Amino acid sequence: MAKEIWQPGNMLYPIPAVMVSCGREGETPNIITVAWAGNVCSSPAMLSISVRKERYSYDIIKETGEFVVNLTSKDLVKATDWCGVRSGRDYDKFKEMKLTPQKSNKISAPGIAESPVNIECKVKQILELGSHDMFVAEVMCVDVDEKYMDEKGRFDLKKADLIAYSHGEYFSLGKKLGKFGYSVAKKQASKKSGKTKNSTKAKNSTKTKKRSK
Ligand SMILES: Cc1cc2nc3c(=O)[nH]c(=O)nc-3n(C[C@H](O)[C@H](O)[C@H](O)COP(=O)(O)O)c2cc1C
Repeated sequence: MAKEIWQPGNMLYPIPAVMVSCGREGETPNIITVAWAGNVCSSPAMLSISVRKERYSYDIIKETGEFVVNLTSKDLVKATDWCGVRSGRDYDKFKEMKLTPQKSNKISAPGIAESPVNIECKVKQILELGSHDMFVAEVMCVDVDEKYMDEKGRFDLKKADLIAYSHGEYFSLGKKLGKFGYSVAKKQASKKSGKTKNSTKAKNSTKTKKRSK
């Protein structure tokens, strides 16, 4: 298998492209699109976003120590791109994209009401990495659109039509290929054949230990 060897570059794809909202008290809130974002710790729940110093949002996030990560869906793909190519220095992005600032629960920065999931964050550390500074932040709470809850109170994120970003392009998510731990899970005893000799054993062995990430 022949492979070309490239210079170092960002090639970790697909990744999310999120809309990060931020704002100072009494000022028009802003939105910056961020693809350099990720979960970094489970307990406490933490994530990071990397932002260039020259972005209008940079100073706002640094000064307030707060931001909201808003997940992006198919309906929000145009706004996601637009908020990533226009600056809050020149535009009221909420107004231009017909988005609604949503009062947050634990922080002052607003979320985006149209987003299915708003992750309210408080900055814990700022790492100067080079082109970007990484804001490492703790998740204070998560606001989830009730529309995606089923009757049993389970959240079905699949229904939110989230988008992914890969090598400069936006994509819908494709079909489900498996679920966490499926590669080691034992198959359930066939429904058709009813109970087999080893059915109890088979049933118990379907429980995969959910490893914490
Ligand atoms: C898909 C996409 C991903 C982006 N990811 C980042 C990022 O991770 N960090 C960053 O500083 N800018 C990123 N940008 C660029 C900013 O979103 C863009 O410069 C924006 O206009 C800054 O807005 P502001 O000046 O209002 O803060 C991205 C843009 C797009 C379209």
